[in-house]
Amino acid sequence: MLIKRKRGWELPESQATPESIFLERRRLAKALAAGPLLLGAAALVGGRVGEAAAAEADPSAGLYPVKQNMRYRLDRPLTDEKLATTYNNYYEFGSSKNIWRGAQDLPIRPWSVSIGGLVEEPFEIGIDELLAKMPLEERLYRLRCVEAWSMAVPWSGFALAELVKLARPLASGKYLKMVTLEDYDVMPGQRAGWYPWPYVEGLTVAEASNELAFIATGLYGKPIPKQNGAPLRLAVPWKYGFKSIKSIVAFEFTEERPVSFWEDIQSREYGFWANVNPEVPHPRWSQASEQVLGTDEKVPTQLYNGYGEFVADLYAGMAEEKLYM
Ligand code: MTE
Repeated sequence: MLIKRKRGWELPESQATPESIFLERRRLAKALAAGPLLLGAAALVGGRVGEAAAAEADPSAGLYPVKQNMRYRLDRPLTDEKLATTYNNYYEFGSSKNIWRGAQDLPIRPWSVSIGGLVEEPFEIGIDELLAKMPLEERLYRLRCVEAWSMAVPWSGFALAELVKLARPLASGKYLKMVTLEDYDVMPGQRAGWYPWPYVEGLTVAEASNELAFIATGLYGKPIPKQNGAPLRLAVPWKYGFKSIKSIVAFEFTEERPVSFWEDIQSREYGFWANVNPEVPHPRWSQASEQVLGTDEKVPTQLYNGYGEFVADLYAGMAEEKLYM
C-alpha cells in the first residue's frame, strides 16, 4: 500500500541528496562494468560521454529539424538550450532541478505506447512507427511552471488532435488520461513510496483536440532529451507545467475525469484544470508574475499564459469548476 506524504513542490535538498548519491554509485558501478577505458574517459570529460552516446543512440535523430509553424509566436527570446535541458522537473529522477545526468538512464528504445479505453479498437504502437505516421512540425511555446518561473522553448512534434484521430475514441470517451513509464530500476524517485506513481495526467477530449495541445518528440531541432520527457511528452502551454506529462506510455480514453498525480497528492493545491491565471494565487504563493529563467526579468503572468485566443472558448459556461488550480 502506498503511504502518501502530503507535500507541495519544494522538498528540502536533504531529501534529494540520497537519490543523487545513489545515482552516482549506480553510474560508477556501470562504468566499472564497462571497463577501465570508459571509466577513464568519463572521468576526463564528466557527463559528456553519456550525453553523446545517448544522442547517437536515438534512431529518430534524422527526422529533425522540422519546419516551424509560424502561427505560434513568442513575445520573448527563446530560453538558452543548455538551461532548458539542465533545469528540469522530473520527479521520477528526483525532486531537485538537477536530474539531467540521472535521466540518461531512461531507456527510450524499444518504446511503445498503448492507446485504449473507450476507443473503437485498442492498440499498441512503437514510437518510431508513430513518428512516421504523424505530421511533424516545430512550435515555439511559453512554458509557465506553477512554481512561478517560465521558459520559452522550441518543441518539435505533432498536434495531440492527430493522435486523438488515430485513436478513434467512442462518443462516451470524454477524457484522455495519460500515464508515464513506471520503472523502479531506472527511476530512483519512484522508490519514494509516498508518491502515487506512476505520474498520471488528463485532459478533456475537447482540450486534447484543441489545436494548441501538442505532443513533443523533439526540442531545439533534435530528438527531445530524456530529462525533458523523451521519447514523447505533452505540451499544453495554457496550463501550468505540471500538466505537461513526460515519457508517456499510455493514452486511455475514459468516461470519468482522471485524478492526476499532483491532485492525488494535494488536491487543495493542484486540480484537474490548472489553467494559468495571474489572479488566482496558489494557496502558498502569488501567481501574478513569473521569473523568466535565464534573465533577471520578472514579468506579469497572463491569463491562459497568453493563449486565451486559442483556448478561452473551451471554458465558456464553466464558472462552477475550479479552472485555475
Ligand atoms: N512529468 C513527469 N512524468 N514527471 C514530472 O515530475 N514534472 C512536470 C512536467 N511533467 C513532471 C512531468 C512539471 S512540474 C513541469 S514544470 C514540467 O514537466 C517541466 O518540464 P521541463 O523539465 O521539460 O521544463
